[in-house]
Amino acid sequence: MLVTTGSPQSASHGDGEEGRVICGALYPFFDRQSLQEVINQSNESRTRLSLVAKAKWAFQISSAMAIVHSSGQCHMDLKPSNMLLNNDDDVVVIDWEQCGASPFFLAPEGNGLWDVEIVANSETGEVQGAEPTMAYRKFTGPLPDGCGTWPRRNIFPLWQRECPRALEAAEVYSVGRSLWAIFEQSDDVWVYESGHSEAKAVLWTHGSDSVPEAWKDFASRCMGLDPNKRPTFEQGERFWWQEWKQFEGNTK
Ligand SMILES: Nc1ncnc2c1ncn2[C@@H]1O[C@H](COP(=O)(O)OP(=O)(O)OP(=O)(O)O)[C@@H](O)[C@H]1O
Ligand SMILES: [Mg+2]
Repeated sequence: MLVTTGSPQSASHGDGEEGRVICGALYPFFDRQSLQEVINQSNESRTRLSLVAKAKWAFQISSAMAIVHSSGQCHMDLKPSNMLLNNDDDVVVIDWEQCGASPFFLAPEGNGLWDVEIVANSETGEVQGAEPTMAYRKFTGPLPDGCGTWPRRNIFPLWQRECPRALEAAEVYSVGRSLWAIFEQSDDVWVYESGHSEAKAVLWTHGSDSVPEAWKDFASRCMGLDPNKRPTFEQGERFWWQEWKQFEGNTK
């Protein structure tokens, strides 16, 4: 086993076979647990979490994921129960397993049934000068047996190598859904009710009446069905920073 507080690659090997290490991360115990638990508790006590806190969390999640994707990495299972809150009320993303995802939060095109490639705009009829488009084609190869894992075919490592833009767009979708859950203060029962894969329209209800329309519009754009039209994490980082600071200023 290798124990290190730095990057596993830069540490010298401990006991065990050369080149083989167990990879994992230890975190301090955070009393408040995950954002999902904080939402559930707030709902039980019939209170609402503050909008300033929600804007800050949206910024922190987007900013963290912008850094993660700029270094070519990903999470794969972004959702409020994988986001802890520390004692300063800051988000700490956990559970970087990268071997499974929750159907409710997984981008529809990331369900293993699609391949992606970048095509020149002349092929798609898009205006000249626009960024090349990601084109998704139905995967026709054999799918591995279910074995209880989801998605059945994990495209994340593939897109990590071959199409980082598609990887980021898929995770932006998961963050959009997470923000929907946070803004709505939705209990986590839907996670288990939602069944598999098909993109279900997510509706804004009275649960998010107090949330500014611009915030809901941004989260909805993250959940857009066309991955080409979703914002990037960097755009999210900028947007949520402005909203958070503006909102904080207004409430002082
Ligand atoms: N360091 C921690 N401090 C406090 N609570 C934690 C901590 N780590 C995990 N938890 C709690 O345990 C839950 C599950 O943790 P984790 O996501 O690592 O396990 P998991 O089995 O992979 O869950 P899932 O498959 O649902 O994502 C979290 O949602 C959180 O409530
Ligand atoms: Mg988890």
